Amino acid sequence: MSFKSDFVWGVATSAYQIEGAAHTDGRGLSVWDNFDQRQPGRVFEHHHGDIACEHYQRSAEDVALMKQVGLKAYRFSLSWSRVLPEGTGAVNEKGLAFYDRLVDQLLTAGIQPWATLFHWDFPLSLYKRGGWLNPDSPRWFADYSRVIVDRLSDRVSNWMTLNEPQCFVGLGHRSGEHAPGDRMEMPNVLCAAQNVMLAHGLSVQVIRAHAKTKPRIGWAPTGDIPVPATDSPADLTAARETYWSINPKTVWNQAWWMEPVMKGHYPEAGLKIYGDAVPPHTDEQMRTIAQPLDFFGLNIYNGFRICAGAEGKPQRLPRDQGSPTTHNNWHITPPALYWGPRYVHERYGLPIVITENGMAAHDWVHLDGQVHDAHRIDYTARYLRELRRAAADGVLIDGYFHWSFMDNFEWAEGYRHRFGLVHVDFATQKRTLKDSAKWYSEVIRTNGANIPA
Ligand code: FCB
Repeated sequence: MSFKSDFVWGVATSAYQIEGAAHTDGRGLSVWDNFDQRQPGRVFEHHHGDIACEHYQRSAEDVALMKQVGLKAYRFSLSWSRVLPEGTGAVNEKGLAFYDRLVDQLLTAGIQPWATLFHWDFPLSLYKRGGWLNPDSPRWFADYSRVIVDRLSDRVSNWMTLNEPQCFVGLGHRSGEHAPGDRMEMPNVLCAAQNVMLAHGLSVQVIRAHAKTKPRIGWAPTGDIPVPATDSPADLTAARETYWSINPKTVWNQAWWMEPVMKGHYPEAGLKIYGDAVPPHTDEQMRTIAQPLDFFGLNIYNGFRICAGAEGKPQRLPRDQGSPTTHNNWHITPPALYWGPRYVHERYGLPIVITENGMAAHDWVHLDGQVHDAHRIDYTARYLRELRRAAADGVLIDGYFHWSFMDNFEWAEGYRHRFGLVHVDFATQKRTLKDSAKWYSEVIRTNGANIPA
């Protein structure tokens, strides 16, 4: 069993992490701009995305590299405040023209554009108007979606609304580690979450109603994956139960997001656990949230082991001593790419697209001028092997997007974690294909046949 013949092999990035040009051509600010200046100590060594990879100026060069790698698809996000500097109202033509150019460059290179409408860089001016707590925020997002769809949908047909709502709501509004750095109580967090889900639903409606070519629409939530400790049915049940469970103090879960979006209601267990913190919601709102989707994007990096404990209750097992981790200390757990797609596919039936997976490493340019990142090749091979196993077991898998195309601004961690298949020297902006990029070319060319059994 192999990957399907039209499998979509791609890479992913996001606007704020690579574009730079923060003050160029009329771009407005987002909550990530100057986050560290507004809240000192929030970003590693006061790094920021003002320049990043200068992708705004270098997109032609970057697309040429993508072509050299042989990529079939490129998942990028659009900067809302580059297109609408105030978040609503006047369109910044120069900003919009950048995405127009990018899409044309991709299509000319034979690479399918996969557009994410929101990857965390919320317009600062809208944040000052209440951000995701403002009941108008879903409409703001829908109006922004309309601008993009009107302009790009003659050439773009693959769309994702939101990237990792768990992160930008949870880290941005609950724990405060990410911009805008708020530490809200659960009622406000869940209110923001509901507006985010409404924004998703309205945006899907806008894409369906106005797209000029038949759209394929998904989204890209995330989460760590509980992996059953053994093959026993009891461990599998415990792991699956953990995947769908809810922690009262955070929005770091699957069910609170996925059930409304896929089934049109909050999960019973969540209503009980969050209790009074749940915002009022009407049936009509829930129907708006639950728009039919064409694929289910999943960003998956790691997992943890679960076994059935006393009376079958899920029990989290400690990591093995010395178990391997990446540069940012994420645990290397390839079966996450088997179980995550399987849990979601068995519940919702949609084809799965892995919209992100990859690792941070200590990469540098060696004396021979090359970047020898054998660890990334091994990591990716191990994860893809598990994804292939999921496909063999009947999980519909349409594609895989490696995070990331090139090293970039890793949010609160600044530039210290390198996730790219392409090395970026941030002092000179020189790009160097890492060994992993060359290996990934072979993965694409052979449709995964070079991944060990
Ligand atoms: C994901 C984000 C992405 C990047 C990777 C490493 O959570 O979506 O922007 O930061 O992690």
